[in-house]
Amino acid sequence: MKPCKHKEIQFGKNTILLADVPDFEVWIPSLLQEMNAHRAAFDTSHRINGRWENSYLSVDLVPHIRIPMRFARNLGKEIMKIKSMILFESPTGSNNPHPPFWFNLAKPGEITGLHNHAHYSALSVVTYLQAELDAGSLYFHLEGEGQIEIEPELGRMVMFPPSLHHGVRVNRSTTERISLAFNLFSFPFNCDELW
Ligand SMILES: [Fe+2]
Repeated sequence: MKPCKHKEIQFGKNTILLADVPDFEVWIPSLLQEMNAHRAAFDTSHRINGRWENSYLSVDLVPHIRIPMRFARNLGKEIMKIKSMILFESPTGSNNPHPPFWFNLAKPGEITGLHNHAHYSALSVVTYLQAELDAGSLYFHLEGEGQIEIEPELGRMVMFPPSLHHGVRVNRSTTERISLAFNLFSFPFNCDELW
């Protein structure tokens, strides 16, 4: 793996890893093109405050997601010492039909409320595909520690423990904010515990 710039942030007992995904100038436009071509095929799971929180597509429609997902798996092992595996689709036996990766689309004025990804995954990850200035920072919240804010930047990846509560501030830019989020999994795993 190519060396990359990265930064570790300690937040209570949690480690948050920031990294620049190599060659993002190349794979982001390709991934956005794939995603935009298949917007009509989006599957969605939950609607909050008039906005679908997660938009899902199968990996065969957006094959460039493999690049950031593989990078995250490798970096998690190298820097965070967390071995994990990628799932490109919902495992057989899971009662959740959605793949464990999704797009977050936020129009101007939209937010994502505080939540976590406590689904027995090893790591949660988000990377930014489209975000202008003031498109809304990612924030983490921890009782007794307060909050920390991370501004979205194209090609920036944020890796964090799935149990850590987080949300996204209001998009005050004039364009849609688009990120790709996914969970990486421990192995071996029990399908009954995945969701
Ligand atoms: Fe999230």
